[in-house]
Amino acid sequence: MSRILPPTPANLARAAACLRAGGLVALPTETVYGLAANARDDEAVARIFAAKGRPQDHPLIVHVADAEAALAWAGAWSPAAETLAARFWPGPLTLIVARGRDVSLAVTGGLPTVALRVPAHPVALAVLQAFGGGVAAPSANRFGAVSPTTAAHVAEGLGDAVDLVLDGGPCHVGVESTIVDVSQYDSGSGVAAVLRPGGVAVEALSEALGQRVAVRGEARHTEVRAPGQLPSHYAPEAQVRLVSEAELPAEAATWAAAGLSVAVLTASPEADWPPGVVPIPFPRDPEAAARRLYEALREVDRQGCHVVLGALPAERGLGLAVADRLRKAAGPRSPDGKSHP
Ligand code: TXA
Ligand code: MG
Repeated sequence: MSRILPPTPANLARAAACLRAGGLVALPTETVYGLAANARDDEAVARIFAAKGRPQDHPLIVHVADAEAALAWAGAWSPAAETLAARFWPGPLTLIVARGRDVSLAVTGGLPTVALRVPAHPVALAVLQAFGGGVAAPSANRFGAVSPTTAAHVAEGLGDAVDLVLDGGPCHVGVESTIVDVSQYDSGSGVAAVLRPGGVAVEALSEALGQRVAVRGEARHTEVRAPGQLPSHYAPEAQVRLVSEAELPAEAATWAAAGLSVAVLTASPEADWPPGVVPIPFPRDPEAAARRLYEALREVDRQGCHVVLGALPAERGLGLAVADRLRKAAGPRSPDGKSHP
């Protein structure tokens, strides 16, 4: 089992030394725990992919201590990048910018761009400062599984694959950073686009830039996707099914009557749920829901439920990120496109 250590000065120094030696350190950030390695060390970066079981062409986010350090990784730094970095860093925002010349293709998955973020967590920042460089850090979970929001989640999921886990308590945002592509600005004409909704609301980005920020590709729920082509992500063992809030009780009763153990994500756990239904408390407030989401999905698995039912929140503010994660958790899991029994 990996070592879970409190973030004492000695352990922060130990984490920095481990990174320098090419090791893997799981770090708390305000969003989720990250699996960090020296982003200038290709062998260390390769260990991240191996530990996560992640495809090699999936690019990683480089975490740095401040916006000035980010410049060393960027090939261009537009006014949009400057504005967003000044407004939201340290914080749950990742900027996609042109890749600096000496940034490893192992980190960027061969892309001409690089993802950069300054996390707003004292432990992550202390390690970055002590280490003195950038660390590549995906979420510290096996590829496709539920992201970790506590040190115990990391140890459960990655075990010995990580050299040490720094325990910074539960993550207070609870969903990953918002990813904004500002690389088009570098060519002078483009606009900013959200590639993944997350801890910074899209509305706040639009306000900071003084123009509407688009939500692009997979992040845009209106896009038509062929069943079976969307791989599930952020998924518990239990099948995830999304219904309207009004349908939850009847739908739960149907699954329970079929002999399946069914959980419901609900703001009313004390309501009169049908026999055999396991209510999992899940707040309506979008920020509280984001903080609780991954722990709630893990609770479903701990209860041994076959299926979990949930309703999508209103897609405003952090509700957009919560809805995105619930949709991906409900996505098809195998090439035949089956997402539930
Ligand atoms: O909150 C977070 O962002 C957490 C914490 C640990 O900082 N990290 C995280 O990393 O969520 P990960 O690897 O689980 O997700 C990174 C996402 C991936 O979807 C990846 O495709 C995207 O960032 N990404 C990285 N570099 C990119 C690039 N150059 N262009 C487009 N997408 C990129
Ligand atoms: Mg992830």
